[in-house]
Order: sequence, then C-alpha cells, then structure tokens
Amino acid sequence: MIELLRRFGGKFRRYMVIGPACKLIEVIFDLLTPLVIAQMIDKGIGAHDVNAVIHYGMVLGAMAVIGISFTLVCQKMAALTSQGMGTDIRGALYQHINKLSYAELDRFGTPSLITRITNDVNQVQLAVALGVRMLIRWPFLAVGSMVAALAIDLKLGMIFLICTPAIGLVFWFVMARCIPYYKQLQAKLDRIALICREGLSGARVVRAFVREDHERERFAQAADDQAHTAIAVGKLSSILNPVTFLVMNLGVCAILWVGGIQVNVGELTQGQVMAFVNYMTQTLTSIVYVANLVVVFTKASASASRINEVLNCVPSITDEGNQPVALPKPGNAAPVPALSFDHASFSFGAGAANAVNDVTLELPLGKTLGVIGGTGSGKSTLVSLISRLYDAGTGSVSVMGSDVRAWPLDQLRHVVATVPQRASLVSGTIRSNLTWRDESATDEELWAALDMAQASEFVRNKQQGLDAPVEAGGKNFSGGQRQRLTIARALVGSPQILIMDDSASALDFKTDAALRHAIRERSMRGAAEGGLPLTTVIVSQRVSTVRDADMICVLDHGSVAGLGTHDELYTTCQLYREICQSQLRREELEGQQGSATSTSTPGAACALASTCAKEGC
Ligand SMILES: Nc1ncnc2c1ncn2[C@@H]1O[C@H](COP(=O)(O)OP(=O)(O)OP(=O)(O)O)[C@@H](O)[C@H]1O
Ligand SMILES: [Mg+2]
Repeated sequence: MIELLRRFGGKFRRYMVIGPACKLIEVIFDLLTPLVIAQMIDKGIGAHDVNAVIHYGMVLGAMAVIGISFTLVCQKMAALTSQGMGTDIRGALYQHINKLSYAELDRFGTPSLITRITNDVNQVQLAVALGVRMLIRWPFLAVGSMVAALAIDLKLGMIFLICTPAIGLVFWFVMARCIPYYKQLQAKLDRIALICREGLSGARVVRAFVREDHERERFAQAADDQAHTAIAVGKLSSILNPVTFLVMNLGVCAILWVGGIQVNVGELTQGQVMAFVNYMTQTLTSIVYVANLVVVFTKASASASRINEVLNCVPSITDEGNQPVALPKPGNAAPVPALSFDHASFSFGAGAANAVNDVTLELPLGKTLGVIGGTGSGKSTLVSLISRLYDAGTGSVSVMGSDVRAWPLDQLRHVVATVPQRASLVSGTIRSNLTWRDESATDEELWAALDMAQASEFVRNKQQGLDAPVEAGGKNFSGGQRQRLTIARALVGSPQILIMDDSASALDFKTDAALRHAIRERSMRGAAEGGLPLTTVIVSQRVSTVRDADMICVLDHGSVAGLGTHDELYTTCQLYREICQSQLRREELEGQQGSATSTSTPGAACALASTCAKEGC
C-alpha cells in the first residue's frame, strides 16, 4: 500500500493534507461537544436558566455547522484523491500489461489480470478514501476522549482504563484470525472470474456439448468456496459489535453507578457525569471504527501487493537502446535473408520440453516458407519468435539479417505483419479494425488489402461498407469473414514479411488458392516497382496450402523433420509423405510420385533438418 502511495500519491499530496486537516478540526469540535453539553446541563438545566440553555444550544448549533462544513471539504478531498489515484493506477496497470510479453501474460492469466485491474484497484480506492476521511478522525477521537475523560475525574477514569484494553483484546483476537481469510478471498475471486470468463466466452461450445450442468456445477463450487470463506470471516467479525457494545454498556452502567455516588457527595456535577458517559461512548465507538479501518486496510494491502506484483513485473522482452534497423536496398547484389533461424529453441517453462527445438533455416527475400506439422508440433510458437512475442531461449532469430533482439519493437512489428491463428477483431467499424497498422491508410489502400484478402465482396455488400459496425470479438461476422478481415488488416501498411498462422483454415480451397495467388502477385509487383518483394510465411495443416511454397518446414514435436520443396520432401521425408498421403487424392499422389522421382535430389530436403536422420527422412 505504501509503495502504491509513493508511486501514485505524489500528485494528490495537497488533498491528502487538506482533507485530514479539515477532519481534525471536526474532531476538535466533537471533543468539545460533551464539555458544552455539560455546561448546558449544569448552568442551564440544573440552574433552571432558560437563557443559558438557549446560549449553549446556539453554541452547539454553530459548532455543528462549522464541523459539517469542514467534513464536506474533507469528503471532497477524499473523493478527488481516491478517484484520481484509482484512475492513475488502472491506467498504469493497463499500460504495463500491454508491455508484458506473452510469457508474463501466460503466468498471470487473463482473468487474474482483469480482477486486479478492477476489484483490487477498487479495494485500494476505498482504503484511500477512508484513509483521507477517517485515519485521523477515529484514533484522534479515541485518544482525545480518553484524555478529556481522565482530566474530568481520575477515579471514573479507572473504569475507562479497564474497558478500553478489554475491547482492544477482543479486536486483536478476532482480527488475527480474519486477516488470513481476506487474502484467500481475493484468490478465490480470481477463480470465479476465470470460470465465468471461460463459461461465457465458450457459451456456444458449452451448449453444443450439453455441458451446461457441468459448467453450472463448476461455477457453483467456486462460488460456494468463496462464500464459505466470506461466511467464516463474517462469523468471526460478527462477534465484534455485540462484545464491544456489551463492554461499553457495562462501562456506562459502572460510570453511572460510581458517578451517581460522587454526585451525591458533591465531588462531581451531573453534567460532568454526562460528559464522562459521552467520552466513554465516543472512545469505544472509535475503537470499533478503527477496527473496521484495519479490515479495509488489510484487504487493500492484499490487493495492493497483487497490483504491485504486476507493476513490478519486468517485461522480459524490451527494446531499450535499440537503434532503427536499415532495411536492405532493393536489387542489392548480396541480399541478406529476410528471415533466418539459427539453432533457435524455446520452451514454455523451466523443465518443460522445448516447444521449438534447434531450428535452423534461412528464407531469402520475396520467398514463401510453408510450415506444416501436426497439432501441437510448435508451428505457432515458431512463428511467434519472429515478431518477438516470445524470445528464443537459445540460438537466435534474425529478420533482414539483424537479430530480432536488436530491432526496435515498433519497427520490427511494422516490418513483420502477423495474422494470428485465432482471428480477433475488436468492437468498432471495419475501417477502425483495418487501420491498426497504419491509421492514415486511404480507402484505396484498404480496398486493395480487402481485395487481396478476398474480403472485398462481403464488405461491399454491407450498406455502410468500410464503416459497417464490428461487434466485440467480431461476432457479427462468420469465422471465414473474420479470418479474411484479419488478413486484410495485416496487409495494410505495406509489411515486408507476412506471417499467416493457419489463418486460411476457415477458407474454402478456391478462396485459399486465390488468396495465395494475390499475395504472390503483390510480392512480384512490389519487386517490379523497385521496392522489396513481400516475404511470406504460411503456417497450415493443409498440404494444398503449403505445397507451392519455395521452402516447406515440416515440424514434429518442435524439431525440424524436413526442409525443402514439396517434391523434395515427398521423396525424402517420411512424415511429410504420410501427411500428403492422408490429405491428397490418389491422382494427385500418383502424379506426385512421377514428378518426385524425376525432379528431386534425395537427401537434399533434409540437409538442414537436424532431426531428419532420427525420423528416417
Ligand atoms: N502458452 C503456453 N503455455 C504452455 N505451453 C504452451 C503454450 N502454448 C503452446 N504450448 C505448448 O507448446 C506446444 C506447441 O504449441 P503450438 O501452439 O506452437 O502448436 P501448433 O503446432 O501451432 O498447434 P496447432 O496446429 O494446434 O495450432 C504444444 O505442446 C503446446 O501444448
Ligand atoms: Mg498453432
């Protein structure tokens, strides 16, 4: 909590001083009130002097008005500080989360990040507001009332000195048991958020598989678990109020009894006994409020440490000090490869098997690399190393001859456009989704990208065209339409390298072929117009999508099982042949066998594949 105050409180320091100062003035009036009432009783009511009663009544009224005015100022300061800090913390968290690499995002998990940015910030906000308003009030009122009471009469003060530690002891007993529960409650809220998110975002699948009961049960279990903990805390803290008021009322009885005797012998006035009772009530009520503050601050401190955990998480992927990389000149006599992997390996965690294992390959400018392999063979992970969504653990990945770790991230991600495996659109319009890479793109450029992505037909059919609305997640578009729009988005802003991660899986074969043809044309046009030709990486599980690629990389359990053209691999790589046999028609395979034996050089395909020998390629 202190760390958050240090980071975000500076701007609100003025409010945090003015607010409590106003509260202090209000507390002083609260402390004076019993004394004025005592005067009213002794000099007005006791002496049957109506004028004195009216006089002290007016004094009390004036004190109340002044007190309320200061309270209002304090309230405003508290609102400005807590809301302002809450907004700043939320903004900083959101900004920082956007800087984290996939590895850190995987570690926290999306539901937990959402809970931290919403619920945890709310807890901190509440504590800040209460802190400005109450942190001075209750402790000061408790101590002030005690001192004032002791100043009136030491003998009655002994009752005070017995009641106060008794209540303190009850609080200590209850709080020591509650605090660990508050920490557990936050973690259990995370779990509810996770189940909620999974259940709601996958509602269609849940219904399709008739899993509603199972999901309901899962949610009920998590909610019950959280409720049990909350009830356990509630039960413990419910002891507090009755015990406090019991002790307080016993104390009041004792004061009235002992005080009554002293009034009879003339040692105290009735007004002083009433003031004593008021101070006693004020002190003990203050202790109850202080305990509530402890609860709020305990929850807030658990939340603050969860917020700090995110803010202090150093992004593993940074580009500090990286200078812009000069792109190769078109027509250079010795062009650098557009893309190269040099013994690159990556694993998702210590002890986990490598998802990408010792991959070495080079792709010249303007060429197309096809990446094929079974589910979970590491295709997506391999291509995510190119735009530094993850960093290779060992070995290196280079783009245009420079290690990706030497590129400024903005430049790298502008040069390399990625179409992710899961098409994701955000709420807005088609135009706002297409201009992510280049906000100044003209309509002409957007239509050209849509044409290439085979998406212009359905966009033209929309009444509002480029300004047609896109709902959250693009759910008002079909899977294939979403894919085409994400491909078009990647093509806007003239990337030099285009990565399509299984992004044509929802397209029919004809559209898929038309898309690849359009990309090839664009690449050649780029070169003919004196620019850099477009280099393409196509990830797919379909042989038909990658067979025309200049180079195909066959992945198996993260390792390269074969590398070469379709014809070369068909003859030399057993795994690739098996994939072809499972997907291509008999006539295609027969034609294949003929051409393969006549055109391929056995063994060439696996020249770069370190695992090839093992696979028997
Ligand atoms: N975020 C992650 N955390 C831990 N392991 C992961 C993560 N993402 C992927 N993996 C693991 O890494 C391996 C490679 O996954 P990857 O997504 O690269 O496969 P893929 O070839 O793209 O599969 P698909 O064809 O299904 O898209 C798999 O074993 C997978 O379980
Ligand atoms: Mg994948």
